[in-house]
Amino acid sequence: MTNSSLLQHANYGHLLPAAHGLLEEHATRTKAHLIATGAAMEALAKKFGGDPETWKVAGMLHDLDWDSLDKDWEKHCGDELKKMLEGIDAPPELLADIRSHYAHHYGEEYPLDTMLRKALYCVDELTGFIIAVTLVRPSKKIADTEVKSVKKKMKDKSFAAQVDREQIAKCNELLDMELDELIAITLEAMKGVAEEIGL
Ligand SMILES: [Fe+2]
Repeated sequence: MTNSSLLQHANYGHLLPAAHGLLEEHATRTKAHLIATGAAMEALAKKFGGDPETWKVAGMLHDLDWDSLDKDWEKHCGDELKKMLEGIDAPPELLADIRSHYAHHYGEEYPLDTMLRKALYCVDELTGFIIAVTLVRPSKKIADTEVKSVKKKMKDKSFAAQVDREQIAKCNELLDMELDELIAITLEAMKGVAEEIGL
């Protein structure tokens, strides 16, 4: 499959203002992760030639239901999320893109078959990890977090042990991108929204 066919995609960037509204309404603990993932996705769209606002909306809303679910993985990306997205007249492609990131559950129905989906899958675990790395720095400021400190912590398996390092490292295969570059782009994007994510 050529790179350009992987970029063919419905655009739903016009939903950006509505996406901000949904975060205000439904996201609490997960909000920083969602803002960070939106920023990273926007940066990756620019890198790969996707529609930056579409990619950003997918990043911002991919865990929109999580704070309402009380850690119920069975319901993640299910009917509740569908209802939330219907409330802003989102096209079905947005729900499908979001479901693809929960590959353990929806992998067969919504495969990682576009650049947007591949990028969301890899970056999802990384934004949370970068937040965790920043919070153990003396300043707790993302401005002081560097690529090398993120990489060092990734090798320490006891640190933020719940983060799936393999999912992040799939960037080699899925995006044809070195891990260092994915970390650098994601970190830079998150520095751009430092205030919004409280770091
Ligand atoms: Fe996530």
